[in-house]
Amino acid sequence: MLIKVPKGTQDILPEDISKWYYIEDRIKEILNKYGYKEIRTPFFEYTDLFVRGIGESTDIVTKEMFTFLDRKGRSLTLRPEGTAPVVRAYLEKSMDRISKVIKLFYLGPMFRCEKPQSGRFRQFNQFGIEIIGTKSSAADAEVIITVLDVYKKLGLKNLEILINSVGCKECRGAYVQKLKKYLEDKKSFLCLECKERYNKNPLRVLDCKKDSCKKIIASAPLIIENLCQECKLHFSEVKSFLHDQKIIFKEDPKLVRGLDYYTKTAFEIISGGLGAQNAIGGGGRYDDLIEELGGKSTPAVGFAAGIERMMIVIEQQQIKWPEEKALDVFVAKAKDENIEAAFGLLQKIRNAGLSADMDYSESSLKSQMRIANKSGARYTVIVGEEEFSKHMVILRNMQTKEQKEVKIDDLIDQL
Ligand code: HAM
Repeated sequence: MLIKVPKGTQDILPEDISKWYYIEDRIKEILNKYGYKEIRTPFFEYTDLFVRGIGESTDIVTKEMFTFLDRKGRSLTLRPEGTAPVVRAYLEKSMDRISKVIKLFYLGPMFRCEKPQSGRFRQFNQFGIEIIGTKSSAADAEVIITVLDVYKKLGLKNLEILINSVGCKECRGAYVQKLKKYLEDKKSFLCLECKERYNKNPLRVLDCKKDSCKKIIASAPLIIENLCQECKLHFSEVKSFLHDQKIIFKEDPKLVRGLDYYTKTAFEIISGGLGAQNAIGGGGRYDDLIEELGGKSTPAVGFAAGIERMMIVIEQQQIKWPEEKALDVFVAKAKDENIEAAFGLLQKIRNAGLSADMDYSESSLKSQMRIANKSGARYTVIVGEEEFSKHMVILRNMQTKEQKEVKIDDLIDQL
């Protein structure tokens, strides 16, 4: 029996790889423009990093982590997200000594054991950015603007930006008490999951998509109306920076994110065409995370976007992918015996900086020409015995179909 790809994962096949290169290059181009430096952290970390970082009662930690023991019995987890690992590296490498404010980006696979569905995978790719070391509301605005610039570069349209403030330790604490009080006599009408959330993480009740809970939540007190002075001011500054840059956004007072580390700004970017999994990206401020992971109190803000979801939107919006880069030269041999000469020429062409290939099967010249055609090569060089003995080859322009004999010494110049 054939072994299949694990559930929720997918191969990226050669015919699609140029799309990935294209997206990754655009992401890097924009992030470099905004001054972010790339960081690459391991694909797995000690489990504790995510339990402490993302929050013990979150869905990610309770249900979705790929956790395993190494041979010494240490618990490791495939990274479900990139923020906690970046903060771990920031602290471990004392990056605050490099500069007061650090701007980092990452790009790569994340792993969550979720129920696979359209736009939801168990291994998926994210690009993310983190600005560590500033509480400035301009940084929150920059994160949003940067990401929108990436989407714009890729041609994505009709995206909705939802923003909210989830307050700080102080004002949120008081708000959660208020919310619990409101939910207390309605608890029995909440869904099973929300009953549990009521005890462990009441804020998450606000995010429930079930109609019965939505009805209850509809008249719940809002965090936005319960922010302290500092959080209120910070939020209004973020909005004002966005207004100044003509960014259209919607305030969503019920937006709470699935990770516990957020403080103040929380935001999500959604695309209607994605169905149930409509968030192509999300992020926010996390002013307490660095201290919770053992560092000194350091404010930070960031964002991450799912690349597969971006690709779905690109396909849906029928945005044209760039043409795949074809081979420069295909080398064909008139007869199998000419392989040595053909191979020598092939390497000579490659060494001159052109892309070139040949067919290693023992196929006829006619079928090699078919392969050459399919490869999209601009030229085919045909190595035949008679010409080769005269230090010549046949050069065929695949577009005009013109053919001429060329001296081997002149071949590279001609190409
Ligand atoms: P997140 O909202 O959990 O945030 O994930 C960000 C994005 O990753 C989502 O909006 C979605 O596009 C994509 N994504 C998440 N799960 C899946 C999945 N199972 N399949 C496909 N795509 C998925 C974070 O991860 C935070 N670390 C973002 C952040 C950075 N906050 C501050 N800094």
